[in-house]
Amino acid sequence: MEIVNGFSKMNKDKKISWLSEQQDIDLDFVRDFWHKDVEKQKVFDEFSENTVTNFFFPYGLAPNFSINNRIYTVPLVIEESSVVAAASKSAKFWLDRGGFKAKVISTIKKGQVHFLWEGGDTKKLFDFFQLKKTELILSVKDLVQNMEKRGGGIKDILIVDKTNSLENYYQLDVQFETCDAMGANFINSVLEALGQKISELAISFDGFHNSEKNIEVIMCILSNYTPECLVKAYVECPIEELGEFADGMSAKDFARRFERAVKIAKIDVSRAVTHNKGIFNGIDAVILATGNDFRAIEACGHAYAARDGQYRGLSSCSLAEGNFYFELTLPLALGTVGGLTKLHPMAKATLDILENPSAEELMMIVATVGLAQNFGAVRSLVTTGIQKGHMKMHLLNILNQLGATEAECEEAKEVFKTQTVSFSSVRNYLESKRNVQ
Ligand code: MEV
Repeated sequence: MEIVNGFSKMNKDKKISWLSEQQDIDLDFVRDFWHKDVEKQKVFDEFSENTVTNFFFPYGLAPNFSINNRIYTVPLVIEESSVVAAASKSAKFWLDRGGFKAKVISTIKKGQVHFLWEGGDTKKLFDFFQLKKTELILSVKDLVQNMEKRGGGIKDILIVDKTNSLENYYQLDVQFETCDAMGANFINSVLEALGQKISELAISFDGFHNSEKNIEVIMCILSNYTPECLVKAYVECPIEELGEFADGMSAKDFARRFERAVKIAKIDVSRAVTHNKGIFNGIDAVILATGNDFRAIEACGHAYAARDGQYRGLSSCSLAEGNFYFELTLPLALGTVGGLTKLHPMAKATLDILENPSAEELMMIVATVGLAQNFGAVRSLVTTGIQKGHMKMHLLNILNQLGATEAECEEAKEVFKTQTVSFSSVRNYLESKRNVQ
């Protein structure tokens, strides 16, 4: 492979042919995934850089979600089989048992100005900050006024002494309310302005000696860790109303095994990661469908799962006084305006399907789907085992990999209703069928 100069300047066709020649592979087919409408394709091309085509993911729907007594059909973007089926099955299960309940606990987002100050006397720096805090906040008035009109803005600024961890290191910890926006650009712009202003204020501050006047801003950036932007989703019902499970497992036994499984994820990191992965199967899928930033949500969720020093399962289950209670509380800093939410036609469609939720409503929907997904996975794990349902859903992928025709697929779906699905069992089945014909 050769080094290339000016790659970003090449048009899409040129990029594709350059790569084809370099690798000696036929990449013409990637054009099949372009949108037929040039203008619409342009929107996608401009989301990021050096785009040559689109990468399709399935867009599925999980109906029958009752959240705070309102019914939703939730779109999910995910490539993994079983996830949408599990979400839909859990939604239906809880629909008959009072539905999901959800509540936003807090909505504060934060950002930091990380700076070095070599003055030494921390009290002097803190006194300077208290004296200048109002001026500092007023200095970003123009940047925050629109957000303030919507009910948001800067909630507070704290100064934090981090010199115990790193020499001369301090932070401005800025708390924001960003209403229906995720607010990353807003927060970062305000932080950069605050960083510059605090340096200027220090230079002109009479109370500092010359050696104390230099506030060296290292960086200004929002924090994706938002433990004060919290939402809780939960379900509950009398244990006996959980019904009966596979192979005659009683509701009581199911509840006991389920509760133990959730506890295991609380104490064992290897299980906790997989448990939370199942939660994020649901969460990421809705977040992708709404055009929100799933990396930010994942990073934050995992840090929150480890907030007491050990990584733990995010959901909790209790069985007090004959009641089954299952909940998920986690930080979700989401937006329903700005970013891709209106630009990506499918993100817009998702928000329409969800009846244009506010950011708080979206937090509740997303947490609910995470909980539903977790319920579905743990239910399978403690009853039939995960493979039975999963492989059934995976059957079509295996058949497609083996080049099965539509007729073969239809027949195989019938046959494997009563047989165990595995790659080899499906291959053997197809081979024997084909040999007979
Ligand atoms: C698979 O994508 C997710 C699960 O492993 C989650 C879990 O084990 O709880 C089934």
